[in-house]
Amino acid sequence: MRLQARWLSVALGCVLLGSAPSPPRPEDGYELWLRYRPVSDAALRREYRAAIGYLVLPGDSPTLRAARAELATGLRGLLGSAVPLERGVTRDGAVVAGTPASSPLVASLPIAAELARVGNEGYVLRATRVGGKTAIVVAANRDAGVLYGAFALLRRLQTNRPLAGLAESGAPRIELRLLDHWDNLNRTVERGYAGASLWAWDSLPGQLPARYRDYARADASVGINGAVLTNVNADARILTAPYLAKVAALAGVFRPWGIRVYLTARFSAPMEIGGLTADPLDAAVRDWWKGKADEIYRVIPDFGGFLVKANSEGQPGPQDYRRTHADGANLLADALAPHGGVVIWRAFVYSNDVPTDRVMQANNEFVPLDGAFRPNVLLQVKNGPLDFQPREPFHPLFGAMPHTPLMAELQITKEYLGQNTHLVYLAPMWTEVLNADTYAHGPGSTVGRVIDGSLHGYPRTGMAGVANVGTDRDWSGSDFNQANWYAFGRLAWDHTLSAAQIADEWIRQTLSNDARVIAPVAAMMRASREAAVNYMTPLGLAHQMAVGHHYGPGPWVGRGRSDWTSIYYNRADTIGLGFDRTRAGSNAVSQYFQPLRDRFASRDSVPDDLLLWFHHVAWSERLHSGRTLWDELLRHYQMGIDTVRWMQRTWDGLAERVDAARFHRVQELLRIQAAEARWWRDASVLYWQTFSHLPIPAGYEQPLHPLAFYRALTCPSDVTKPRCPAIEETP
Ligand code: GCU
Repeated sequence: MRLQARWLSVALGCVLLGSAPSPPRPEDGYELWLRYRPVSDAALRREYRAAIGYLVLPGDSPTLRAARAELATGLRGLLGSAVPLERGVTRDGAVVAGTPASSPLVASLPIAAELARVGNEGYVLRATRVGGKTAIVVAANRDAGVLYGAFALLRRLQTNRPLAGLAESGAPRIELRLLDHWDNLNRTVERGYAGASLWAWDSLPGQLPARYRDYARADASVGINGAVLTNVNADARILTAPYLAKVAALAGVFRPWGIRVYLTARFSAPMEIGGLTADPLDAAVRDWWKGKADEIYRVIPDFGGFLVKANSEGQPGPQDYRRTHADGANLLADALAPHGGVVIWRAFVYSNDVPTDRVMQANNEFVPLDGAFRPNVLLQVKNGPLDFQPREPFHPLFGAMPHTPLMAELQITKEYLGQNTHLVYLAPMWTEVLNADTYAHGPGSTVGRVIDGSLHGYPRTGMAGVANVGTDRDWSGSDFNQANWYAFGRLAWDHTLSAAQIADEWIRQTLSNDARVIAPVAAMMRASREAAVNYMTPLGLAHQMAVGHHYGPGPWVGRGRSDWTSIYYNRADTIGLGFDRTRAGSNAVSQYFQPLRDRFASRDSVPDDLLLWFHHVAWSERLHSGRTLWDELLRHYQMGIDTVRWMQRTWDGLAERVDAARFHRVQELLRIQAAEARWWRDASVLYWQTFSHLPIPAGYEQPLHPLAFYRALTCPSDVTKPRCPAIEETP
């Protein structure tokens, strides 16, 4: 009753004073960055309304229909009034969209030269005159380009950029821009932290809920053009007729949005569902795969191809028959080639024998095979040689296989970076790798130029991201995790975009165009990745996660296969810490081109942030800063914790400017992240101390619990939300 009275007086006050802004309405995150809220800046809204009054977008293909619907919805939302569809240009303010084939108006414009430059998927946006009337043109060579152009125009309005003088062209630098879903047929998701798999196999192909379309639409809005539906740890049943019918139904929903489906092929499928062997040189096996490919293309004519994890972590592969990876990939490539499909063969190999240095294995296995793969094979290489760690050097395969198209595989799902809980914006990590210079052809041979094909002239190019989406209402397990899906798509489209620009776009579309929101949130996002590196694995440490869930710390993990343990990677002893990968050690540095090889090998020139990746450093040795390793470790862990606390304070300052639902969700996750940053640091430092026997000096917080407490912790086994309540409750 009292509450009601107070609410009434507040409401009345607002009406009477007419000035108090209404609080933003609560949002559940479902709309992602496609919210299309009215442009709040009145002058800008006037400018947009003057430039955009109606839409002229003829054509009836499913993709053009999708573009038309998107423009109608988006423009109505942003401008606050309907933008009607009309047949021709009759007055100022037309949006003229289409291809020369679908729109006579577009065909009549003098933009052939621009169109020739943007290829099949690119677009041209122009503010111009059509028949003497002002118009915004969205032109492309193919329907998919019109769709991407429509999203680009909407993004422009969503991010409050001017339309006057608009002259923008866009074309993807990379051909295959894929999300890899590690989804199982029982709807669990390997390393998925956002609910169940989106693909409801039981109710397919009959039921096609709107969420399938919404997923494809979100992908298309950032330029993603393919989805690998199934886990790399594959199940052969996906290749059977009943499942193919389900896959075909999904492909039908995705097609208008320019998205092709791909499947993972289990190498032993001819055994499991064909009653044969799986030997790639066996004629019956070759026939089986050809027949299977023919069957797939009968039901999915634009099927993208196969993604294969072979001879890695126990998966079957050609080496089971003493054949090479090339034999295996070519077998599938030959089956798909007549239909235009590709084989994406993964370079993430983890053989049955423990190698001298795990991070050297991919180069050892694949470099000798350069040039041995069919033209429709791409090799998919993780960003670093280990496994999606908070920081790794770039993978030394990049640059080392000039005759084999290499794709980059990034992990959006943050398996090793706090999963659904921690706020970690990944674009800084990805751009660090994409901009890294391999020196394969001298300076300027960046990883980005390897994978976009410009360095070696690859005929095919691709980038894949391990998806972070599931059935959670917000798709990605947290509001900020959505930014990583967004950033992946934008970088796959154009790897030269900066992490800052992508963050700015995402914030404006998802949260607000208010500078008082943009600046602090951008600062949080910018700092977040380095913070995670610092509180988890500073100075080049890697793979110190607890066994199984990869969430909390476990630097003591020593049981199990030796190259899966933390102690294998940290090499902590009474002398010091870190993995010697110089010539005196594993010589992994030899896999990099000069001058990197020498730069990494020398204690004087190795960057601090990769120090312990390449070197075993004594606890009391002095680093570039003049501080000892022990001091620097303590400092970095503390910086990680302090940054998260600063992120908390920064977010708290936004209480009035972000809707209450999202504000509280993020606030709660940051609270958990702060407690867990402390957990990471306390557990790690206490463990290193058992070797260094050095004190934690005054001025640093002392650990909250003894080492035995952290070692004894067992987190609940809910793989979708692997948290440790004992830590979360830490003040
Ligand atoms: C990581 C991850 C596995 C996954 C593997 C892969 O090791 O933990 O779940 O299967 O990568 O990329 O194949």
